[in-house]
Amino acid sequence: MRTVDIIEKKKLGQELTDEEIAFFIKGYTEGTVPDYQASALAMAVYFQDMSDREISTLTLCMRDSGDTVDLSDIPGIKVDKHSTGGVGDKVTMIVAPIAAACGVPIAKMSGRGLGFTGGTIDKLESIPGLSTAVDNERFFKQVKDMGIAVVGQTGNLCPADKKLYALRDVTATIDSIPMIASSIMSKKLAAGSDRILLDVTTGSGAFMKSTERAMKLAERMVAIGTAAGRKTVAIVTDMNTPLGRCVGNRLEVMEAVDALHGKAETELMEICLTFASNMILLGEKAETIEEAESMVERVISDGSAYKKFRDMVMAQGGDVSYIDDISKLELAPIEYEIKAAKSGYIHNIDALAVGEASMLLGAGRETKDDNIDFGAGIYLEKLVGDYVNEGDTILRLYTSDKSKISNAGRRLEGAIVISENKPEGKSKIIGKVE
Ligand code: URA
Repeated sequence: MRTVDIIEKKKLGQELTDEEIAFFIKGYTEGTVPDYQASALAMAVYFQDMSDREISTLTLCMRDSGDTVDLSDIPGIKVDKHSTGGVGDKVTMIVAPIAAACGVPIAKMSGRGLGFTGGTIDKLESIPGLSTAVDNERFFKQVKDMGIAVVGQTGNLCPADKKLYALRDVTATIDSIPMIASSIMSKKLAAGSDRILLDVTTGSGAFMKSTERAMKLAERMVAIGTAAGRKTVAIVTDMNTPLGRCVGNRLEVMEAVDALHGKAETELMEICLTFASNMILLGEKAETIEEAESMVERVISDGSAYKKFRDMVMAQGGDVSYIDDISKLELAPIEYEIKAAKSGYIHNIDALAVGEASMLLGAGRETKDDNIDFGAGIYLEKLVGDYVNEGDTILRLYTSDKSKISNAGRRLEGAIVISENKPEGKSKIIGKVE
């Protein structure tokens, strides 16, 4: 078999056989297929798409390229939750403890942020002392003892995806439905949970810019999970504006802690209620969505959801005094305000611009080796739908490096749209695929 023939076949829009896909993934992981051929194939897939069978085979080959986690020793139905990426997306930090407090075992491996999207691992590590580098033995023990662990991905999980993702990042082939679907699902399948809940984001701050493409991605990921024997549900959500008020690691921890105490914006609470109750349903701890929703409300109001989060932070070495009193979490010392250029209602605060500006302030990584400034980020003083007077502060920027403000400020030019009429309120939940 020759790689060039596989590329030629895909270039012409033909279906690859399982053997051809397996040959490519094995060769690329082992280094016998060079980057230039893998780039050509990625671009051919980008333009020619793949059938459900090809995507499933690609996913399973990537899953099997490294270690897989066997969670069968942990009693109960383990439920994983994953987002395809967003701005201000602190949902995992909120819904994982809620679901755990309702009895759903959470054994979760999360990723770091890259570019304009943040990662749960970085957010958690912004709590002083907390470590997400937990070995397998401690990971299993923590889930068995307290029902929740959120840790970094182990070194050798899906090495084929790691290599291919890095290549796609520099060859403009990230936003390909078959490749995103197989990349995410290979890691979800390797991480071992029984059921998977996906947040497929759409809009400016997401990989999928249109709802139509997001629905397609959702359908494909659900098909892969189902074919692999793991019940998978996807919820498509709007990411045209940041989620909630905080973007940046420590800021998002503060907002997550508030949400666990029941204090969050309606929109963030709606998303968390939806995701937490769907996790509870998938974990078979409730029979109806209404029952699951009332469980969510109960564990927030009786403090047990926050206690789960606190227990997890403590078990992973975090200093809980910083979450018991979030004002102790230090933000970056230099503040800069973006003010309203005119009076009126806010119609848009562009998620991509806010995500990139936050990264430029030091909250994210441009390349995977960059360091993160945990205290940097952006606080949204005003949200879409709010009325502002000219000169009111809309965004508050935090950084430790004054020279970063001008670039971030430039990136935010045109990101805020103000007009005379009040915009219609819209739900962030767009659709569900199961
Ligand atoms: N996240 C992933 O893990 N893979 C992709 O391809 C895109 C987002």
